[in-house]
Amino acid sequence: MPDVIVPALPAKENITQASGLNHPQLIKLLQKAYSAEKAAAYAYQGHAASVKNLAEKIAISQIEEDEWNHRKEVLMIMNHYNIPVSSWYEKRFAIIGKIISGSCHVIGWFMPFFFAGKLESGNVCEYFRMKQYFNSLGIDNWDIILYEMGMKEKEHEVYFLNKIRQSKVLPYFERMFNWGRNKSSNNIDLDKKYPVAESGSYCKKDTAK
Ligand SMILES: [Fe+2]
Ligand SMILES: [Fe+2]
Repeated sequence: MPDVIVPALPAKENITQASGLNHPQLIKLLQKAYSAEKAAAYAYQGHAASVKNLAEKIAISQIEEDEWNHRKEVLMIMNHYNIPVSSWYEKRFAIIGKIISGSCHVIGWFMPFFFAGKLESGNVCEYFRMKQYFNSLGIDNWDIILYEMGMKEKEHEVYFLNKIRQSKVLPYFERMFNWGRNKSSNNIDLDKKYPVAESGSYCKKDTAK
């Protein structure tokens, strides 16, 4: 009898099968978040180096540290399901992070704070979406860790917003880039936080701003 040749599955399905996590969107989101955290950490290295105020330098370096911790936590989840690190995302986000890092020295004081806040605003929901995806598979053991990472990103967003809140140019940037005093990419209010068990409405497509 001739050998049966089994055609190779597309890469995406291979990963899904090998990882035992039947959710390609979730796998991609984890891989992307892992690499994007490195981009953020690199960007904050440049941002911290570019500011003169010592308190700002310390706060931004702490945020950089938070991003490295997030990267470790995302990797722990990926390792649990044998999800490989994407070398494409790693290279792409490393370059993005280094470019942003360098640009912080030449674009003045306001813009690095503004764009950091805008980026953080979007990052918040990445972790709440991961939680929703895991929950859709009946997995809730990452709820706390993902909730805490999402909330930490919200704290970062609020820190950056508070730094530029009084700026006269903020309303113009807010109109152009859809983030600022009145616009956010998420529906979380740190002053009225829901506990983990009641956080299902966070970043739902119809409720996220
Ligand atoms: Fe992060
Ligand atoms: Fe962050």
